[in-house]
Order: sequence, then C-alpha cells, then structure tokens
Amino acid sequence: MSKNSAARIAAFSGRPRESILVFPELDSTNTALKRMAQEGAAEGLVLIADAQTCGRGRLGRSFFSPHGSGLYFSILLRPPVLDPGRLTTLAAVVTAETISDLCGVHVGIKWVNDLYYGGKKLCGILAEGAGRDFAVVGIGINLGGSAFPPELAEIATSLEDITGKKPDRDALAAALIRGFDCAPREGFSHMDEYRRRSILLGREVLLPSGEAVLVSEIEDDGGLIVEKDGRRLRIKTGEVSVRLGGK
Ligand code: BTN
Repeated sequence: MSKNSAARIAAFSGRPRESILVFPELDSTNTALKRMAQEGAAEGLVLIADAQTCGRGRLGRSFFSPHGSGLYFSILLRPPVLDPGRLTTLAAVVTAETISDLCGVHVGIKWVNDLYYGGKKLCGILAEGAGRDFAVVGIGINLGGSAFPPELAEIATSLEDITGKKPDRDALAAALIRGFDCAPREGFSHMDEYRRRSILLGREVLLPSGEAVLVSEIEDDGGLIVEKDGRRLRIKTGEVSVRLGGK
C-alpha cells in the first residue's frame, strides 16, 4: 500500500512529494516524527504508516493500529502554532471537518480531542511537544477492514461501520494535510466550530472522582467549565465520561 501512496497523497494535496513519507510499518508515527523533528526536520513534514506496532494514545494508553485498517498520520508543526490548548482544539476541528466533508458524516468532538459518531470513538488525536520549538500532531482514524478486539468492540467505530464503505486512505490523508496547511496559525476563530461539534456541552458528565456535573462552557483555551449546586470548576486536562448515551 505504501509504495505509491506518498506520490498519490502529494498529488491530491498539492504538496511536494518529499514532504510526505509513507512506511509499511512504524512503531508510532508520533515517536518517529518527534525523533526527526529533534534532528531538524522541516515544518509540515507528514509521516503515515500502514500499521503501527506501538501506536500511542493520550494518558499512556495504546492505540489499536492494525495493518491497512486505519489512517495513522502525524504532522510536524513549528511556531507559531504552539500553544498547547489551542493546538489540541484546532487539530480536533480540522480533523472533524475533514472527515465530515470527505465522508459525509457529522462527527462530534468529545473534549478534549476525541472524535465520536453515534456514541462511539472514531478517531483519537495525540498532540505532543507543544510549547517547545515544535509540535507533533498524531491522528488515528479507524477506516475499517479489521474487527475490533473485544475491549474496543462496544466503544469504537470505523468509517466503514458508519457509511458501509471503507474510504480511500490516501484521499483522506491529502484532505487532512490541506486542512492543516490552510488552518489559521493564530487566534481562536475555530472555537465556534469546536463548540458546535462538542458532544459534552450542556450535558451531564462524570468526573474521574465519579461526581456528576453539568458542562456549561468550553473556553477559548480549551478549558472545560463544569457546574454543580452553584459551584463552578475549571478543568484543564484529563478526561470526563459521558453520562447519558451518545450524541
Ligand atoms: C487517543 O486516542 O488517546 C489518541 C490516539 C492517537 C493515535 C495516533 S495514530 C498516529 C499517531 N501515532 C501514535 O502513536 N499515536 C497517534
């Protein structure tokens, strides 16, 4: 799959061929790209793997990355896109809009940057290194073609599950590259779209402590404002779980 992919993706995205590297297998596209960034790789470099042997998620989790069943994608960004909160929400909006436009499905955002459809996770995003002289944004989208392991079967979905058709990975990668290349480099204009797509805003969620709270606001810097009994709490990182069904 990887042999002609870089040339196809370059042609679809209007990028120079050398700015896109596609490998049959990597440990993790994020790990590999961070290594290359430290060695001076240029802004915008994209790494894609057909499979990952050690795909990584947020909070130390692993990301299911079997051969040919997902888009495993990382892009290198250099200043000025380095504010961690902004980068995380921007990546979620760019990816959600790309999937929605290309595949015709409305994808929701679960704070802070997981993408959901029908109450199940379709895509995970791992932004690393932000705030230094580079950031790597890694995106894993379940395309379909492999059964999920039992522990994911009830909570994960793929574009094939949703639309009945596995999308063209290279076309999706190219659209994602265009999305990042055209995204605003500063400011918070993407936050309106972030809030529109949020599956948490206005809903009751559970904090890690088990306490149920109402999500009343998402601030421009990505902070989640929750309320209970007149108390307001600002959550900056971590995870909350949805209490009632999926949106
Ligand atoms: C999450 O679900 O918490 C984030 C998952 C991010 C997965 C992508 S796949 C491409 C890139 N390489 C990795 O090792 N992780 C990200």
